[in-house]
Amino acid sequence: MPHPSGILGVFGVDWWSRRVVAAVKALIWMCSWLLWVVGLVLSALVGVEGLENGLARTPPMGWLAWQRFRCNTDCVNDPHNCISESLFMQMADLLVHDGYRDLGYNVISLDDCWMARSRDAQGRLQPDPYRFPSGIKALSDYMHKRGLKFGIYEDYGNYTCAGYPGILGHLQTDALTFADWGVDYVKLDGCYSHPSDMDRGYPEFGYYLNKTGIPMVYSCEWPWYQLRAHTKPNYTAIINTCNLWRNFDDIQDSWESVQRIIDYYGDNQDEIVANAGPGHWNDPDMLIIGNFGLSYEQSKSQMAMWAIFAAPLLMSVDLRTIRPEYKAILQNRAVIAVNQDPLGLQGKRIYKDKGIEIWARPIMPLSGIHYSYAIAFLNRRTDGTPSEISVTLRELGLANPEGYSITDLFDGVHYGIVQPDKRFKVDVNPSGVVLVRCEVAKHGAAGARAPFRPTPTDRSFRNPFHNNNNLFNNFGG
Ligand code: GLA
Repeated sequence: MPHPSGILGVFGVDWWSRRVVAAVKALIWMCSWLLWVVGLVLSALVGVEGLENGLARTPPMGWLAWQRFRCNTDCVNDPHNCISESLFMQMADLLVHDGYRDLGYNVISLDDCWMARSRDAQGRLQPDPYRFPSGIKALSDYMHKRGLKFGIYEDYGNYTCAGYPGILGHLQTDALTFADWGVDYVKLDGCYSHPSDMDRGYPEFGYYLNKTGIPMVYSCEWPWYQLRAHTKPNYTAIINTCNLWRNFDDIQDSWESVQRIIDYYGDNQDEIVANAGPGHWNDPDMLIIGNFGLSYEQSKSQMAMWAIFAAPLLMSVDLRTIRPEYKAILQNRAVIAVNQDPLGLQGKRIYKDKGIEIWARPIMPLSGIHYSYAIAFLNRRTDGTPSEISVTLRELGLANPEGYSITDLFDGVHYGIVQPDKRFKVDVNPSGVVLVRCEVAKHGAAGARAPFRPTPTDRSFRNPFHNNNNLFNNFGG
C-alpha cells in the first residue's frame, strides 16, 4: 500500500485522526459550556423553568397520612397508630386487598414527621431510624411491588411545619435523594419560609425534580401561604410548575371545616376554577370520610363536592377500621368517574339561596355544542326534613333539545331521558347532597352522533356555563 505523501506522510494517518477527534471533542465541550452559561444567564433573567412532567392528567387519587394520623411519633405507647413504616405498609396492603387501588386510589404518601431531626453527614435527609428502620427506599419498593405509587412530604423552608429539616439550602440534594428512593409524588409544604420567596423557590425545586429525570407528581402549598400573607398568587406560574396546589386552610375533622372549603371554592370560583385542567388541579385538601367528624350524609356531600371540584381524592382515614357504609362512599365508581372525567373541567356553584346550593360540572360525553353535566344539589339547611328542589334542566343551563339521560349517582335511580323544559325534582337530606349525572341524549338511536370533542380554538366551548342567564326564575315553583 502506498504511503501518504506531504504533511500526512510526515505525521501519519493515526496521528491526524487523533488530532481531529481531539479537536471535535474540544469543540463539543466548548459548545456545551457556552450553552450552559447562556442557560444560566437566561434562567437568572427570566426565572427558573417550570415543571412539565406529563403527570396527573386526571386528579391524583390515594391515601395521605396527615389528617387522620397527624404527628403521632409515640411508637412506644401507641405503636398501632404512630407514624412508622408499619402503618404505611398496613395501609398499602389494605389499599390493595380492599379494592381501593383498582378503583384508582394508587398513591400512598407520607406526610410530616417521617424524618429524623437532622440530616446525615453528607447533608441528605434520613428517616427516623426507630420508626422507619428499613429505610425509605425499602418502603418505596414495598409500595411499588404492590402496584402503588409512593409519595413523600417536605417543606420549602428551614423546617417542616412540625419542626423537621426543611429543604432550604438542599434543593438539588433532596430532589436527587427522592429520585434515588423511587419517590413518585412530592408534597411540598411552606412553613418557615417567606411567601415572597415562593415564586422563585417552588419553580426552582420543580426544576430540580424535573432534572432528576424521574417523573414525580409535584403537590404545592404555594398559593395558600401567599393568600394567608395577603399576597396575590401568580396562578400562571403555579399552573406551569405544580400538578396540584392547596389554596385554602387545612381541612379539620368536621362538617364546619368542609363547608368552609366549599364556600371558599364557590366564593372564589371566578379566580380559581379556570386554573384546573389535565396536569394541574386545585387541591381542597384530604377526604375525611370515615373518620369521626362527618355524618353519613355529610360524607356523601364531601365526596360529591370533591367530584364537582375535580379535586385530588386523597383519603386520610384508618382503612383498618373504616365502616362499610363509608368505604362504599369512597368506592362509589360513578362518583369517582365524575371526579376523573377526562375533560378535566372544574365545576361551579350556579345557585345559592337559603341554604340550598346547586353546583354544575361539565363532563363527557358531548353532543353537538352540548356538554353532559354532573349536578350536585347541596342542602346546607338543618331543618330536620329533606328539602325538595325543583328545577328544569333549562334553568340549569342544560338545553340539549334531545334531552339528558339522568342518573342519581348515590342511589343509582335512573330517571330516563328528561327534556330541558320538564320539571325535575329531588329531595335532599339536611347537610346532604343529591348528585346526578345528566348525559346528553343523542339523536334517536339510528342517528346517534359521535361525541363532539372541542378544540381549544372552538369558541362555542369557551364557557360551558354560558347558558345560565335565566337560571331559576321558577325555582322552587
Ligand atoms: C401543613 C399542611 C398540612 C400538613 C401539615 C404537616 O399544615 O397544610 O397538610 O402537611 O402542615 O405539618
